[in-house]
Amino acid sequence: MDIKDLKLAHIGVAVADMTTARQVYIENGYLCGNVVYDPVQKVNICFAEKPDEPRVELIEAAAEDAPVRKILENGEPAVAYHVCYAVADLEKSIADLRKENWLLVKNPVPAVACGNARVAFLYSQSAGLIELLEEDKK
Ligand code: NI
Repeated sequence: MDIKDLKLAHIGVAVADMTTARQVYIENGYLCGNVVYDPVQKVNICFAEKPDEPRVELIEAAAEDAPVRKILENGEPAVAYHVCYAVADLEKSIADLRKENWLLVKNPVPAVACGNARVAFLYSQSAGLIELLEEDKK
């Protein structure tokens, strides 16, 4: 397996100000959900959606030590920094990608803004940061 076999779920955009960012997406035809606080990542999250398109995840730091703060270190107001893929079996996908030299940078944790589905982050020096989102096993 490689990421070519995976379904794109969302693109993660770190934003300095959620209120402003959310407003821009709404003005551009997106439907924006409520802002949800994620105590694991110490961030506020809002999903912006359009029919038949991948979602855009807006992520705002909610604490001084939130890891996402590093993304906006250079003072930019917003930076797209991860691509999320939906997977059926998180452990298997992580194992497969590690064989392809992806580095596991964040172990599986529940994501409040995704109905507590588990997510993990992997990094490739050539391709950047990806998130794997375990789809409902219903
Ligand atoms: Ni994400």
